[in-house]
Amino acid sequence: MVEQSVERSLDALGTYIDLYLMHFPIAMVYDNDDRDPKDASGNYRVDSAVDFKDTWAAMERVLANSNGRVRAIGVSNFSIRTLEELLETAKIVPALNQVEMHPYLQQEELKQWQGEKGIVTCAYTPTGYGAVRNDPVILELAKKYGVSSAQIILAWHVARGVVPVCKSSDAQRQRDNINLPTLSDLDFARITALDRYERLCNKIGPDGKMSGWTAEQLGW
Ligand SMILES: NC(=O)c1ccc[n+]([C@@H]2O[C@H](COP(=O)([O-])OP(=O)(O)OC[C@H]3O[C@@H](n4cnc5c(N)ncnc54)[C@H](OP(=O)(O)O)[C@@H]3O)[C@@H](O)[C@H]2O)c1
Repeated sequence: MVEQSVERSLDALGTYIDLYLMHFPIAMVYDNDDRDPKDASGNYRVDSAVDFKDTWAAMERVLANSNGRVRAIGVSNFSIRTLEELLETAKIVPALNQVEMHPYLQQEELKQWQGEKGIVTCAYTPTGYGAVRNDPVILELAKKYGVSSAQIILAWHVARGVVPVCKSSDAQRQRDNINLPTLSDLDFARITALDRYERLCNKIGPDGKMSGWTAEQLGW
């Protein structure tokens, strides 16, 4: 399935892939007609027969056999716990782990652990929606540096050695997002003090699970 999926993406893109990621340690059902397979309640349709270690082994084969069309492989939504499991059988260490990360969910332990293993930490939902962008400290610093809240938060990510993937549909904001201020040590520390281990994107549901996995299984 992985080989088939990569071929499909390569054909659609018409170019090579810099970095191919496993989206989740939890496997979704493979459905050619539905690229976002969800049930009637909006929950992902999970294929519990798939082990992420086998998915990773298939990704390693893709990397070896793609004649340079896939340049690197990595993971997303992994924790120290699930990465430790993956590394039990992995021949290649993931180049990167893309996780939810912003001032309210800083995951310093994961970032440091990954640094020791040579895994780049990449932040998704890096600006933390309106909740973080409108935090009083962030708003105050945006005013002080004369930039947007998003730029303040992106500057903080870069200063801590994290790669933020920020999305904007606006050309000017895209340019702004690569033109970042240098925060003073004090202002960097004020943002770091906002940590509260709060997930805003992929949350554990009222049943204590996310896509059928408990927080313990996910390592959250
Ligand atoms: N691996 C995963 O499981 C996972 C999960 C979630 C997201 N992601 C990926 O992560 C990327 C970013 O995540 P995200 O979209 O949730 O969070 P985000 O990039 O932090 O936030 C995007 C929002 O910020 C606004 N924005 C961006 N730059 C701005 C600026 N300079 N000033 C004001 N507003 C600004 C955008 O509005 P405008 O478009 O109007 O500028 C958009 O509404 C996406 O590519 C997404 O696919 C991955």
